Order: sequence, then C-alpha cells, then structure tokens
Amino acid sequence: MLKPHRLVMIPGPTPVVRSIQDQMGRETIAFGDPDFIEDFKSVVRDLKELWQCSGQAFVLAGSGTLAMEMAIANISKAGDKALVCSNGFFGDRYAEICRRRGLKVDVLSAEWGSSVTPEDVKNKLSESKYDIVTVTHVETSTGVMAPIDEIGKIVQEHGALFVVDGVAASGGAEEYVDPMGIDVLISCSQKAFGVAPGLAILWASKKALEKRRSLGTILDSYMDFEKWLPVMEDPSKYWGTHPINMIWALKESLRIIKEEGIEERYARHARQAVMVDEAIASMGFSILADKDFRAPTLSVYLYPKEANVDDAKFRALVAEEGAYIASCLGDYAGKGFRIGHMGNIDKHILISAVAAIERAAMRVGIKLEPGKALGILQSCFVEESSN
Ligand SMILES: Cc1ncc(COP(=O)(O)O)c(C=O)c1O
Repeated sequence: MLKPHRLVMIPGPTPVVRSIQDQMGRETIAFGDPDFIEDFKSVVRDLKELWQCSGQAFVLAGSGTLAMEMAIANISKAGDKALVCSNGFFGDRYAEICRRRGLKVDVLSAEWGSSVTPEDVKNKLSESKYDIVTVTHVETSTGVMAPIDEIGKIVQEHGALFVVDGVAASGGAEEYVDPMGIDVLISCSQKAFGVAPGLAILWASKKALEKRRSLGTILDSYMDFEKWLPVMEDPSKYWGTHPINMIWALKESLRIIKEEGIEERYARHARQAVMVDEAIASMGFSILADKDFRAPTLSVYLYPKEANVDDAKFRALVAEEGAYIASCLGDYAGKGFRIGHMGNIDKHILISAVAAIERAAMRVGIKLEPGKALGILQSCFVEESSN
C-alpha cells in the first residue's frame, strides 16, 4: 500500500514549510560573509521589534533547555531565591535546573490541567522575598496557558526578575517583553516558529542585562550574555560558530510571521485551537486543560474511558493514517495523546490531521459518527472565511 505522507503533529517539531526547508538546504557560506551578517542583523532586529524588547535578543545553536539554563545562568548566583510556577512537566524541569545551579527553590504547583493563578503568585510573594520568578507560558504536558501578563505585573511590583518559558508559545501566543514586564523570555526554533530544531532564542530586558553585568565573571562561557552581546549587535564578531542555515531558516520564518501579521497570527492560533478542540472532542475524547487556561498552540486529549483504548496501538494507527501525534506525560501517560496546532499550520494540515485521528479512532473501535469531526472543522473554516 502507498504510505501516506506523515504530518508532524506532535507539539514540536512542527511542520516545516517548503520555503523554510529551502533556506536550510542552501549552500552554507562563511559566517563573516557580509550578506550573512546583514541577514543575522535583520533576524535580531525583527525579534526585538516583534516581541517589543528594548533589551537584547539572542539566537544561538541549542534547544529550549539550553535557553532555560542560559536565562538562570545570567541573572542569578548560587543562594538566590527562585519561585518556580509549575503547571506540569516543564515547570518541574525549571525547578530542577534552578536547584542544580544552587538556587533556593520554592515550587508553586498547579494540578495538571490547571494553572498557577496571579492570586497564588501574589500570596506566595507576600510570604517571602524572591530574586527570580519563573513561569511556563504554555505547558506542553497539559496544554495549559498561564496568564503571564497578570503574573508579570505582580512580579514587577515585588521587584523579582521574571523569566517566562515561551518554548511552546512564542510565535503562537501573545508575548510582549517590555509591556508584560518579562525579564528573560526563552524559546527555540522548532515550535510555533515552524523551523527545524536547532536554535535557542532568548530576549533579555535591560534590567536582566544590568543584572548580568553586576554578576562579574560567571562560570558559563557558551551561555554568557556578555560574550554574545557584542556578537548580536555585530554578527561579524565571533564567540561560537553561527548556525548559518538555521539563522536563514529563522529569517524566513520571521518573514512569514510579518507577512501574516503577528497579531493576526496570535488570533489565528486562538481560532484554530478552538476548532481543533471542538472537532476532536466530538469523537468522544476529553480535553485535559481547564476551559479558562486552554493554550492556543497545543492540546492534550484523553481517551474515552469506556473505549479501553490501547495507547501505543492508537498512536501507531494514527501514524499509519498519516499523522504523528505524541504520548501523554506523567500520570496521564497511556491515557491520551498530545497534538501541536502551532506554527505554519493551515487548513489542509488540520483537516488531514483530524481525518487521520478519526480513521484511527474508528479502527480501534471508538464509536463515532464518521465525518462529524471533519464537518465541524469545515463549518468553522467556512465561517472564518466569511467573517
Ligand atoms: C514548555 C517547554 N519548555 C522547555 C522545553 C525544552 O525544549 P527542548 O526540548 O528544545 O530542549 C520544551 C520542549 O518541548 C517545552 O515544551
């Protein structure tokens, strides 16, 4: 049988469109080439402008976890106090990273599916003085989005540095560095930017850069803001070799973002998330995230209990039907699946992904009305086009 094209519907990496792939496939040139220097400058300039950051944007070879470590390495020293707001797996990862760096860590946890609230943060900050507060913007293990704007205001009043993990959000959910009082926003290439994995992306506020300066020499060198600052201002300078083709790919991703319009991109993600949730819920799956905190970039669905779905078999069938989806994490492992709906995902991709899930659901014996989920999506797309 002819194998269908397999869509990458996990919560990152996300589908990489042809024009971005083409940038990765270009002949690599010298990092001192004036054309490349101009390209890199424009990437840094666009990141600062689109995310409204008057401090500095950094792009280097790495992944989201490197960006998480880099944020902490540059704005803290051992013994500092950190409040980690954890809505799941990646919030807990931040607590571990902070502990390993010798910080005194308190964790404010929400039940999986819910979020730490601004009130929770306010109460916690009134009990003790913290140097850093971290929040995961979109928690990839639960599909929950935290209210970072409101939390940011509270953290600013407290005087702590505010670190936001935007790995599963940046480019798909609203993030504005200066207006939201974010001191370090961290991200990477393979999620809502729609680029392949390989880049760590960070934005640092002026306050965060001052904090870094005040620390003198830090242990880390590859992650040091002070080493990268001159390079980001003038990419003809050298600290570590630039991931040239990946920078080109990010440049193309930013071009696509500007062409769509960043506000419209955020609005599209919000609309698409509601559509996909409605379509998949119509097959009998339930949504893990509380209604008030649902992320626009990814969703976590639980199997109908009565269907006794074999998780590994179901996901293998969805893959066979043409879409690769992810397993659940933590206590939800085996009980459902996660999908990304972020980045450069259009109606063709969403329709095909939901259709693959529907066919697999029918093959494992879930009782559903064939085509109902697709009908919901179709109607949503038609309504969207007529507005
Ligand atoms: C919210 C969040 N933070 C951090 C990470 C770690 O990023 P990476 O796997 O690129 O190191 C991930 C990865 O999925 C994530 O979803």
